Amino acid sequence: MSKKYKIAVLPGDGIGKDVTDAAMKALDAVGFSELAEYKWGDIGWEFWCKEGDALPERTIELLKQSDCCLFSAITSKPKEEAEKELIPELQGKDLIYFSPIVRLRQLFDLYVNLRPCKAYPGNPLNYRDDLDLVVFRENTEGLYVGIEWHPVPEGVMKTIIENHPKAKRFEGANLNDVAISTRIFTRKGVKRILKASMDYARDFGYPTVTVVEKPNVIRETSGLMIREARKLVQEYNNLELWETNIDAMAMWLVKNPQNYGVLVASNMFGDIVSDLCAQLIGGLGFACSGNIGDNFAVFEPTHGSAPKYIGMNKVNPIAQILAAKMMLDWLGEKEMAKKIEEAVATVILEGKVRTYDMGGSSTTSEMADAICEKLKA
Ligand code: NAI
Ligand code: MG
Repeated sequence: MSKKYKIAVLPGDGIGKDVTDAAMKALDAVGFSELAEYKWGDIGWEFWCKEGDALPERTIELLKQSDCCLFSAITSKPKEEAEKELIPELQGKDLIYFSPIVRLRQLFDLYVNLRPCKAYPGNPLNYRDDLDLVVFRENTEGLYVGIEWHPVPEGVMKTIIENHPKAKRFEGANLNDVAISTRIFTRKGVKRILKASMDYARDFGYPTVTVVEKPNVIRETSGLMIREARKLVQEYNNLELWETNIDAMAMWLVKNPQNYGVLVASNMFGDIVSDLCAQLIGGLGFACSGNIGDNFAVFEPTHGSAPKYIGMNKVNPIAQILAAKMMLDWLGEKEMAKKIEEAVATVILEGKVRTYDMGGSSTTSEMADAICEKLKA
């Protein structure tokens, strides 16, 4: 018998459990579970409160021993609240809450955030039925590097003023009233996200890749990305490079999103544009994503733990099921991935089973069952 896939499953908090159950049913129904060994791991708010760590070391170990991870959602709360909810023994120990998913991305160098946004006809929430957008968001640098100051240390301000003519106007500012967040791009970081997007366009037959930045204003970072994109695209036959500013992109995506295919952007702009794209195809109940590195990947829905629906068996599991479908694609189980997508598409098209967000009253498990019925048929 061939080796089984080792899959880490991290349902996390809130509705994470409901939608993970649904996705596991789909993986059973399509026959993947026979090829896989699932290891369930701890992540989320409960572990922050009890252990002072939302991503315990044992979970990291588990991930290191897995081929990839199916994650759902976690709850996170602002600093003061996080501190208050710690068990008494852990209070006052200067524990700092850190988003486990952001940590995972950095720890495993998951530099691609891949977000397919495809409209399945019959979804009453579709902006149009002919959309097939795929967003590549850089996942490890840019504005999310977390290098920021408030107040700004004197040495930092001094260095900036000495090294940049435009910084002179801040000379003498009260440093308590200044905040700085840095946006760092590296050539390596830029090149690998561009390459991932262009490879994808080539492999899946998209005629264009659109770089979504703002090089006319943010000259050095966005500029680096555009310059590298122009070089790299030369290596692809018949692939057209489009360059669109982030602000204009928001407008074009409302005006004629059907003209676009693969989009690639840095961390912040990719975050924004992917939420916009997700809403065009039905929003959080449909938006799935993959955090992908060279050797490891974590697949998840875009939505959070939606605390108000905890334990209600109410939310839409399609985003999580499509995240599982992305996982199968990444593992090379293309046939099974295709079957899941077709089952989802058929249930949406028939329109008999719809969760509340689609205007219906079906439950999470009814949606999962309907999809599984198609898979078994
Ligand atoms: P959320 O995505 O959890 O929910 C916002 C609203 O979207 C929900 O109230 C619900 O109306 C709708 N929604 C979400 N998922 C849905 C689904 N599957 N089907 C139908 N409707 C759905 O975002 P919110 O309320 O801002 O955050 C709740 C918690 O989740 C917070 O603690 C936040 O930090 C966390 N969060 C975690 C993420 C992650 O695990 N990657 C991502 C986003 C938020
Ligand atoms: Mg977001």
